[in-house]
Amino acid sequence: MNFLELAEKRYSTRKFSDRPVEDEILQKLLEAGNMAPTAKNIQPQRIYVLKSKDAVAKMEELSPCVFGAKTVLLFAYDETEEWQNPLEEGIHAGVEDVSIVATHIMLAAADLGLGTCWCNYFPNSKAAEAFNLPEKERVVLFMPVGYPAEDDKPSPRHDKRKPLSETVKEL
Ligand SMILES: Cc1cc2nc3c(=O)[nH]c(=O)nc-3n(C[C@H](O)[C@H](O)[C@H](O)COP(=O)(O)O)c2cc1C
Repeated sequence: MNFLELAEKRYSTRKFSDRPVEDEILQKLLEAGNMAPTAKNIQPQRIYVLKSKDAVAKMEELSPCVFGAKTVLLFAYDETEEWQNPLEEGIHAGVEDVSIVATHIMLAAADLGLGTCWCNYFPNSKAAEAFNLPEKERVVLFMPVGYPAEDDKPSPRHDKRKPLSETVKEL
């Protein structure tokens, strides 16, 4: 499968099977994330692996979007480390950096036959509190990870892509 085929194959999984994610597979996903580019290679991302029943249950209390996954990754960044644009006040790269890391993981998971769903439907700061994250960290998203249930399928939204003519312009 080449990259474009992989990009086409990936979709948001919203029904996971009970099959746990093997430790070595999880390690591969985290390594794929670690290879992501970040601004000035500062790597301000912090990834929290929720695998215990208690930790996953805490996430389930915060959001309906765990979808039965037994493993959840919570993505944050350290705002004291993130790159600040010296040419434009208020522009900083933490959210971009974390998003690229999470995208690497999402696509690596699809490549290995796992499903994921990028989720931001949760109270970010309550999640930081629930998991006792350091004050200087900002939570961006969480991602249930696992093997899709047999009857899992893409949502109808998956195929609704705008034509490039609406999203791309040559200047
Ligand atoms: C920034 C962002 C936030 C999202 N938040 C959620 C979410 O909280 N819950 C959810 O079920 N899906 C969420 N999604 C998944 C999108 O709904 C999904 O990617 C989109 O509908 C396209 O479908 P596809 O991923 O199957 O191609 C999110 C995706 C992104 C990129």
